[in-house]
Amino acid sequence: MSTRRLLTALGTAACALTLAAAVPMFGAPSALAAGKTIDWSKVPEAKTVLFYPGQASFEWIQTGTDHGGARSFTKKGETCSGCHAEETADMGKKMVTGQKIEPTVIPGKRASIPLKVKAAYDADTLYMRFEFPAGPHNDAPNATGGKMDPDNEVKLALMIDDGKVEAADRSGCWASCHADAHDMPSAPATDKLAAIKGIDTSGGYVTKYLPESRTAVSLKDEPRGGWDKLKSQAELDALLKEGKFLDLARFKSGKGGQSEDGYVLAERVLKQNAGATFTGKKEGDAWVVTMTRKLNSGQPGDHVLQPGKSYTVGFAVHDDYARGRFHHVSLNLRLGLDADGDIKAVKQ
Ligand code: HEC
Repeated sequence: MSTRRLLTALGTAACALTLAAAVPMFGAPSALAAGKTIDWSKVPEAKTVLFYPGQASFEWIQTGTDHGGARSFTKKGETCSGCHAEETADMGKKMVTGQKIEPTVIPGKRASIPLKVKAAYDADTLYMRFEFPAGPHNDAPNATGGKMDPDNEVKLALMIDDGKVEAADRSGCWASCHADAHDMPSAPATDKLAAIKGIDTSGGYVTKYLPESRTAVSLKDEPRGGWDKLKSQAELDALLKEGKFLDLARFKSGKGGQSEDGYVLAERVLKQNAGATFTGKKEGDAWVVTMTRKLNSGQPGDHVLQPGKSYTVGFAVHDDYARGRFHHVSLNLRLGLDADGDIKAVKQ
């Protein structure tokens, strides 16, 4: 490149930068929305207790010989929260110590994590704030340096259902948690994975999926689950269009904080910077994570959120460099946008 062309190019770049910086000052709506600060002191705080679930899959939940609540859940329409809301900390102790459905104990790991949640919205955006205590480090067995995901000290994820996924309104994330997923008891051998086209198994395992995406799911007979009974692509496309998916967004603490957005239907789809935007940092002894997300992003795999309506939500925190199922989760909760809910999003 000649010196003159180089100078011109530099000049253009500098000009572009100046313009970009100037846009928010002139009030581009999206830039303003992203930069808007919510007065969280005016927003009611909801509290829940996330617990360590071990290998409690959706199949385990629905099998009477495994789970005391199976019959009421499957036949009488009971909800997880209806039976367990007040006792999640005690439940977590049973799995985290290996007393129940957990073959890989991480000595010292917390049984439960209290989570504070606040939510607000305006004309086009949902804002959420999460706070939970940072915990001690405990070496995970079979993990280099004791850290399963050494890049991310914590991750925080939420799922949203708008009433179309079977039983998700009563079980939150459980509709997506199966006995044949990563590190679960019926996980298929890695050499079998390539046989099924249409889902990404390159990680060496099956990710979350919904029963709707399969032709059959075995609750009791081994192997449990239905990872390889995938419906046709045309059927899956139709389900996505009908809103039969769990909307998913996730914060990862590594590299100064990363935002992922996606959904669960035939598998877990998560892409970086695809909608939801998170910030998060440790403030004293607590992690504080905030999220902004368009009420209507126009993206497939994002539910359209409407003021006056409530949605079932589920939360998960991976603390202490955990990955996969070694997380803490909530039961089914409701998020209401100026509507009924455990978490009440208020307009600001
Ligand atoms: C009708 C009430 C009821 C419902 C609904 C119910 N459970 Fe349970 N659950 C029980 C009982 C009873 C036990 C056994 C408790 C024991 O053995 O002390 C149990 C045990 C568990 C355990 C093992 C830990 C423990 O404390 O024993 C997990 C995990 C669990 N349930 C999760 C769920 C989830 C998730 C859902 C919803 C998808 C759910 N339950 C729905 C009643 C229920």
